[in-house]
Amino acid sequence: MRAVVVGAGGREHALAHVLARTCDVVVTPGNPGIPASVDAPPTELDADLFVIGPEAPLVAGLADQLRAQGKRVFGPGADGARLEGSKAYMKRLLVAAGVPTARHGSFTDRNEALAYLDTLGDLFVIKTDGLAAGKGVVVTTDRREAVDAVERYLSGEAFGDAGRTCVIEEGLTGPELSLLAVCDGRSAVALSPAQDFKRVGDGDVGPNTGGMGAYSPVPFASQKLIDEVMADSVAPTLHALREQSVDYRGVLYAGLMLTPTGPKMLEYNVRFGDPEAQVVLPQFTSDLGELLAAAADGDLGSVPGPRFGGHWVTVVCAAAGYPRAPRTGETISGVDRANARDGVTVFCAGVARDTAGRLVTNGGRVLAVTASGATLSAARTAAYAAVDDISWAGRHVRRDIALRAAEDRPPS
Ligand code: AMP
Ligand code: GLY
Repeated sequence: MRAVVVGAGGREHALAHVLARTCDVVVTPGNPGIPASVDAPPTELDADLFVIGPEAPLVAGLADQLRAQGKRVFGPGADGARLEGSKAYMKRLLVAAGVPTARHGSFTDRNEALAYLDTLGDLFVIKTDGLAAGKGVVVTTDRREAVDAVERYLSGEAFGDAGRTCVIEEGLTGPELSLLAVCDGRSAVALSPAQDFKRVGDGDVGPNTGGMGAYSPVPFASQKLIDEVMADSVAPTLHALREQSVDYRGVLYAGLMLTPTGPKMLEYNVRFGDPEAQVVLPQFTSDLGELLAAAADGDLGSVPGPRFGGHWVTVVCAAAGYPRAPRTGETISGVDRANARDGVTVFCAGVARDTAGRLVTNGGRVLAVTASGATLSAARTAAYAAVDDISWAGRHVRRDIALRAAEDRPPS
């Protein structure tokens, strides 16, 4: 099977790497660290399967465009991608489907928004309605900071039109879990659960990022919990989408918080997580291409369920200044040495080549180093050993990815 992966980040590198076990793969546009990157519009490529990585082209309707050309596509149309493109829409759908989520309201009016803040407890959460590259969420106990966020969002100052509607919700507490489900429009299968580390600094301090690392599987995510989320959240969501004539074929990424009163849906994404993909996909011991093609055909029942093996950790290496103002153009060394280690793969994201052909930093999250092991602790040790092979000026990594889980401590 020939497959085209659309996108340019670490997630797309991981998709291509794992699909290449059974498919001929090209990635568009890819990046200089991803083999088989081609610079051609996906509409001009020919393949048996198209897999769209990032949310922006999904929200913009690329899957619809490719399907209109008769292509087999894994990824929702623009109608389904609204789940990620508009948090207000997502919240309405969650309520319609009866999926447990935080108490919330959607606002365009400043005074109504500020009045709603007064109805919340002491943890305020303010989110842009539209896409903000993972940076549009403020979680704070400081009411002044909450008011400031509301004002900067609604005025358009902070995120332009993406923030002119904002969602305000009660703050929840508990460990977070990413559960990715592959959907064929009617049914869904769960992939191995992952945990992502969103804050930039060790001990979960500093601003939210796209994700600084991840591990999978997750010791506290039992099969019972996964079955419960699939039955109580994912299945009713697919049903509610179908009632709106949305034929959702792609990944439904459930971002959950495991609160003292049960799992609650923080958000849905309409794509594989990044960096979750870098630990969930290499874990496949069954054929990823076959599974995604069956989902794209609306016929998951025609293939065996996915199987997984091993323990996996990925550590993101970020540029100095990430997430605010990443420094680009720094020469990267040691990637080949890291890749040569047993069970280690380096997935490239924010990289470019300089005029001398050397790999240089070209974004915030530059690359992710994934390693496997017989235990989570072994995977973690292997990942950090490989991380230490790689260097550039000002490189930033978190040193506590998967630490608590590897030490058998309860999640934070
Ligand atoms: P989201 O983009 O909605 O997943 O939010 C990004 C991050 O903000 C989540 O991964 C959580 O860490 C945090 N967050 C979002 N909603 C809430 C909430 N209601 N309570 C506490 N933290 C939240
Ligand atoms: N790792 C979080 C995300 O992909 O949205």
